[in-house]
Amino acid sequence: MPEQYQVSGRNAEAISESIESGIRRGTIDIGAHLPTIRMLAEVLEVSPATVSKAYTHLRHRGLVEADGRRGTRVRHRPAVATPRSGLSLPVPADLVDLSDGEPDTAVLPPLNVDICWVADRLGPPVGYAQAGAMPELTDAAGPRLARDGVPMENAAVTVTSGTLDAIERLLTVHLRPGDAVAVEDPGWANLFDLLAALGLRTLPMAVDDEGPIPEAMRDAVAAGARAVVVTSRAQNPTGAAVSARRAEELREVLSGRPGVLVVEDDHAAELARVPLHCIGPVTGSWAFVRSASKPFGPDLRIAVLAGYEATIARVVGRMRIGSGWVSTILQSLLLRLWENDEVVTRVADAAGRYEHRRHGLLDALEAHGMRAHGTTGINVWVRVPDEARAVGVLRDAGYAVAPGSLFRIDAPPGIRVTVSRLNDEHIAPLSAAIAGAARPARLATPSR
Ligand SMILES: Cc1ncc(COP(=O)(O)O)c(C=O)c1O
Repeated sequence: MPEQYQVSGRNAEAISESIESGIRRGTIDIGAHLPTIRMLAEVLEVSPATVSKAYTHLRHRGLVEADGRRGTRVRHRPAVATPRSGLSLPVPADLVDLSDGEPDTAVLPPLNVDICWVADRLGPPVGYAQAGAMPELTDAAGPRLARDGVPMENAAVTVTSGTLDAIERLLTVHLRPGDAVAVEDPGWANLFDLLAALGLRTLPMAVDDEGPIPEAMRDAVAAGARAVVVTSRAQNPTGAAVSARRAEELREVLSGRPGVLVVEDDHAAELARVPLHCIGPVTGSWAFVRSASKPFGPDLRIAVLAGYEATIARVVGRMRIGSGWVSTILQSLLLRLWENDEVVTRVADAAGRYEHRRHGLLDALEAHGMRAHGTTGINVWVRVPDEARAVGVLRDAGYAVAPGSLFRIDAPPGIRVTVSRLNDEHIAPLSAAIAGAARPARLATPSR
């Protein structure tokens, strides 16, 4: 935490408000560690129990999290408005930024032509009574998902404002604060932050290249998980894709657990170059989310949500009471993007480029004797003995990567390298730098 930010307050409420205000204004950075309880209690001349209560309050509200022996730190996405720049770790302009997990905006389809196409065909304004998920879009989504192997017989389809919106809605209508959710570990940092903000507990499931490890899911479900969230392909940060065999094993783990909500996140969607293996409806509640963010751009803020009729009906009903629906203008645009052959070709081209960049780095690392992970998607995950050292060594070599601590609960340390914008000329120096960064620090030779 920066020296200049003075936490104030004489009671737990005032202390937590002071910290919240620092996070909101950006004077306390994302990822910053708060002072130890004892140190802050001394400075504020209050009891350690008062500071501890303030920290617990901030934790329950999803603003901070425990960071093992290092204490308490501000979450990656705290549940309070922060400056947008605060959402990622600051990267100096002279570094090659491989830390952000973003798609390459240069290969996304430009939307202007399709927006004009939609605008030219807009009918009269849509009122409250007619609005909702557009039948033209949901009718097109059904066969599209079925072709990829999503079991669409008897499935309902609706539309949400992206994956996290779909997951948030599913969890709030099916679970209660304090319930536990099984999540991949390492896993998607934004999902961890969302669960914290909803007051839900996380139960980590270890992952390998084929998805969550069945025993880990079995343990999480036995420990009381009321929901499991599985990334179908391009798992963030490891790039794992659920294999046919793994999907079968996970179905077996989940069968006989009617009370567990199964959520499948297929955010790689049209960009994925490996087949989809869906877990499907094996418990009492099931939903499958396909976002438009990666193939068509995160700013679209739209996803298609399919699943059991009862699971989806709860989401639709709750949404109707609140935000209502996703604008039909946006839904028309997604439908157009799906049906425009030029866009389809462009997305296929982007998928090829990501594949080339990812394989380029994986192969170069292998030549250094390192086996990194990245079966699909835009990230490569590299196990390292010491994250802080690895991130520091890579910074000195000119590369910013994401520390694995953002994505880990119990998983061993690593770094996430986003390859979406990686140029061929960086692959050799970057892989050499990663190989150096992953080596344990050499003991200093005592001078004689
Ligand atoms: C695992 C995972 N799921 C989904 C998404 C997309 O989320 P949204 O649809 O909310 O943009 C991302 C984006 O990085 C992701 O990493």
